[in-house]
Amino acid sequence: MKTVGIINVTGYAGVELARLLLRHPAVRITQVTGRSEAGKKLADVFPHLSELDLTIQPELESPSDVVFVALPHKAAAAVVPSLLATGARVVDISADFRLHDVAEYQSWYQVDHPCPELLSEAVYGLPELHRDRIREARLVANPGCYPTAAILALAPIADLINGPVIIDAKSGISGGGRSLVLTNHFSEVNENCMAYGVHGHRHLPEIVQEIAELRGNHLDAPSVLFLPHLVPMTRGILASCYVPLRDRVSEADVRQRFRAFYQGHPFARVVDAPPQTKQTLGSNFCLMYPTVDSRTGHLVVLSCLDNLVKGASGQAIQNMNLMFGWDERLGIDSIAVYP
Ligand SMILES: NC(=O)c1ccc[n+]([C@@H]2O[C@H](COP(=O)([O-])OP(=O)(O)OC[C@H]3O[C@@H](n4cnc5c(N)ncnc54)[C@H](OP(=O)(O)O)[C@@H]3O)[C@@H](O)[C@H]2O)c1
Repeated sequence: MKTVGIINVTGYAGVELARLLLRHPAVRITQVTGRSEAGKKLADVFPHLSELDLTIQPELESPSDVVFVALPHKAAAAVVPSLLATGARVVDISADFRLHDVAEYQSWYQVDHPCPELLSEAVYGLPELHRDRIREARLVANPGCYPTAAILALAPIADLINGPVIIDAKSGISGGGRSLVLTNHFSEVNENCMAYGVHGHRHLPEIVQEIAELRGNHLDAPSVLFLPHLVPMTRGILASCYVPLRDRVSEADVRQRFRAFYQGHPFARVVDAPPQTKQTLGSNFCLMYPTVDSRTGHLVVLSCLDNLVKGASGQAIQNMNLMFGWDERLGIDSIAVYP
């Protein structure tokens, strides 16, 4: 059994990690941290985790084989170097190690990076693109929730993109975290739908970075318009991606391309009908439906996942499984909760 520490179990990503890892057959959660509830029994704060007899600590007290860091950006980067120094494998769920270019990070996140020397070592934790490198990694930068949905939707046709891509995405409220913010109150969100990040959302550079890498040096970086929306549900992301293509392609060819690209990737599933967020609730699957709009010739890809599972904690566990040489499905192959 490998030992696991979770930094920030008091956030949504952290507590979801605890829920999923509790049933993982090859690990044991030995320490959890969270400033606001330090000193309390985990079961008193989160009764659904009552099987775990742990006290929430202010900080990790001893080394673990793997540590999941579920802190906000900047706070995450501040703790990662000391964790690596203990010999732990680290999966960071924040944005701190996702971008390869420190200037890009600093301009989008408006903070100085405390350990830019680790950016070249960190592996972007999207197993469908970087599985072999994740296996060898000490530090994995778990992708953002919107980028996971968008990059998986665009990756199979990255080389065919010809013109601005539009990613119109909707997310449930848990994507905004557990901290109290006025815009996330029930009466603000219920029966409401709103766009945000209209002048640029921080997830955009990750999407561009990964798609540009897939296109290689001979093609321009893609031009991407990414517009997120908040909708009144707890979990889930639906990303509708509109893609102008270089050549007209048939729907059958596109679907074949998607299926071939994701062959052998258990959590990226090409589906035969437009997917819905409820079909991914609580599961680690990303469902994708590519279709060609015959009027414009645009490719439309609908991509759907649970932001806290494939968009965060489930994917983090998928990465851990790869880092330890296990089947990547271990502990995270449950199917969606329906209805
Ligand atoms: N929510 C999602 O769907 C999602 C998806 C993908 C990635 N992520 C990323 O995962 C990370 C955690 O997100 P989340 O949604 O779980 O957050 P969250 O629920 O908002 O958790 C935030 C908690 O972090 C702790 N915290 C805040 N500032 C801190 C600091 N400077 N130092 C230490 N602890 C601090 C606080 O808990 P205490 O006061 O108890 O310490 C706060 O309640 C973020 O980087 C986020 O971008 C989230």
